[in-house]
Amino acid sequence: MSVLNGKKILLGVSGGIAAYKTASLVRLFIKAGAHVQVIMTPASKDFVTPLTLSTLSKNPVHSSFFNQDDEDAVWNNHVDLALWADLMLIAPATSNTLSKMTTGNSDNLLVATYLSAKCPVYFAPAMDLDMYKHPSVLASFNALKSFGNIMIPAESGELASGLSGEGRMAEPENIIAFLEADLESKLPLKGKKILITAGPTYEAIDPVRFIGNHSSGKMGFDLANEAANLGAQVILVAGPTHYKAKNNLVEVIGVVSAQEMYDVCHEYFKDVDVAIAAAAVADYRPKVVATQKIKKAADEFSIELEKTKDILASLGAIKKNQFLIGFALETENEIENAKLKIQKKNLDLIVLNSLQDEGAGFKKETNKVTFIDQDFKIEPMELKSKESVAVDILNKVVSHFAKL
Ligand code: CTP
Repeated sequence: MSVLNGKKILLGVSGGIAAYKTASLVRLFIKAGAHVQVIMTPASKDFVTPLTLSTLSKNPVHSSFFNQDDEDAVWNNHVDLALWADLMLIAPATSNTLSKMTTGNSDNLLVATYLSAKCPVYFAPAMDLDMYKHPSVLASFNALKSFGNIMIPAESGELASGLSGEGRMAEPENIIAFLEADLESKLPLKGKKILITAGPTYEAIDPVRFIGNHSSGKMGFDLANEAANLGAQVILVAGPTHYKAKNNLVEVIGVVSAQEMYDVCHEYFKDVDVAIAAAAVADYRPKVVATQKIKKAADEFSIELEKTKDILASLGAIKKNQFLIGFALETENEIENAKLKIQKKNLDLIVLNSLQDEGAGFKKETNKVTFIDQDFKIEPMELKSKESVAVDILNKVVSHFAKL
């Protein structure tokens, strides 16, 4: 999945011949799953029509401070547009627009919006080879870089003037690749490996029956997707569940029993930076698994159970630098029980679910958790979707690494 997926992109098009390439650029953004709004300078409309870009971006194109076609002249709010964006790209960026950006000359909607933008701003220059090397243009590049804007360098090749050299706007595919590489390199969990357990485990009674529980696996899958979105390499060890990882950077290893989950976790744990145990592992399993289907005979029937291994506690016992997070599902004395689990399992953080909280627990879309850290700092959270709880948990992981 592209790092651009779900991103809100504001594309500023200024008036150069390369503007015709923005049709492909918008298509590639949409294909990558981004949301796109386009702002055009008046001059750019001579090179590509607003209708083309609004059709491809699936959004109205903005080009003036107010909508002239509208009798009541509705103001195009450049501040709202700028704040909407996760990322602004000016492509093609002509020498005229670049120079206005450096001096704050906001005589068009594009530059006014640029001046209001708080998001990262990229610019892809496009001009003739001598212009591209002119000291005044180089001064604009340097000024914009000093503002923290990121330049996507022009490419070499045939130019509209008939000359050949450096100055062509980077090809749309290369602009996309540049943005993806830059955004990926800045993801907060880039280079980190995370092991996550999810779902229930099934403990066989005989070839057709098992002991299991109602865990859907959603919390673990949401954690895995969010961790991958933040750049982590994720190994998700999942018991039986119908969930699929949305982010294809998540490696899912399917297991059935607690013992299988234990084995896989121990295979990977030594190489990971973080482990999060979100699985509802069966605490007991039948001592003997019948090789044939058990026939009904006596009126009463009992199965002797034995304890499964506590995966989380076993990881806590061997952990070195790994940041270890566990869950606790409690029905009474929640905080005290959770604190005991932190100590017993040698955890860095516990995510406490209380079944007393409405909206929390198995087969629910929402969860209400309380974080308790190693120093027993208690942080109750609001009732939220499991996706948002996953974001909160991973924020804890990000701030742990930020403190190191
Ligand atoms: N866990 C585990 N392996 C087990 C049991 C639990 O890894 N065999 C993990 C769960 O994934 C969870 C945490 O331990 O992160 C807490 O599980 P929970 O069932 O709440 O607590 P237990 O330690 O099993 O204790 P109890 O059932 O007595 O509350």
